[in-house]
Amino acid sequence: MGRGSAVVAYDRMAGIYDDFTKENDYERWLGEVLLPELESGGLRHGRVLDLGCGTGRAFPPLIARGWSVYGCDSSWEMLEQAREKVGTTPVSLVEGDVRCIGRLADKPFDLILALNDVVNYLTEDGDLELAFQGMKRNLAPHGLVCFDANTLATFESGWTAESGDRVEPSSAPLRERGWEWTGLTTDPQPGGIFEAELAGEGIESPSIHRERHWTSDQIATAMRASGLKLLAVKGQREEPGRIFLEAPLDEQRHYKLICIGGHDA
Ligand SMILES: C[S@@+](CC[C@H](N)C(=O)[O-])C[C@H]1O[C@@H](n2cnc3c(N)ncnc32)[C@H](O)[C@@H]1O
Repeated sequence: MGRGSAVVAYDRMAGIYDDFTKENDYERWLGEVLLPELESGGLRHGRVLDLGCGTGRAFPPLIARGWSVYGCDSSWEMLEQAREKVGTTPVSLVEGDVRCIGRLADKPFDLILALNDVVNYLTEDGDLELAFQGMKRNLAPHGLVCFDANTLATFESGWTAESGDRVEPSSAPLRERGWEWTGLTTDPQPGGIFEAELAGEGIESPSIHRERHWTSDQIATAMRASGLKLLAVKGQREEPGRIFLEAPLDEQRHYKLICIGGHDA
């Protein structure tokens, strides 16, 4: 398994990532929506592993709630940003590919997160299973995993050659901020591969993003094959200042699906 295209894409944009995603309010999303949802599903407070942690945007709401945080990402440059951000707060950070992680710590984790497209960057057949096996290896017996994946609506609205300058629903107009996001996909298909390019200020060479649309059935099957169980899947949508998690998931109405899982008994 070589260094993937995601490593190059994120090494190139690490310096601007926080600014690029500044519309995403992690206190609201993780702190006020996802964690309460997980708590109602039996989440026990304690140790969290953030896979594909990037610059650590999810860390502040976790640290503020007393979680002991462990982050892993395949991009060294993203981890450098995370290191700067945490300063002296004791957060363990490790460079690694979610498709081949062993036991990352002495004790397993109560919660494993993979937030903001991490699962979509796993594009090859078998990648999901490898990532879920790594999650299972690190998950406490009572633990929960929680990750998102983009719906078809998201890919159709921002990742196709026809989508012009439309961008993901939560993004402010990027051009005004010096960036150009260009959808490159000419044959959008459910379950297909989608590509887009990000260029502009602070990005030396264009950052090419290659993601795969995964359906909830494919995710459930891969989890089962890896000894995990998909306990809940919800659709996420937003209105100004509010994030909603809804069932049933609708690939057109929702822009993300949120998956919650645990060990398969
Ligand atoms: C959109 S960013 C999300 C970062 C962070 N989770 C957040 O919410 O801001 C996607 C992250 O996934 C990481 N990533 C992609 N594929 C990966 C892989 N196979 N193993 C580890 N990290 C990966 C990228 O380096 C990048 O930091």
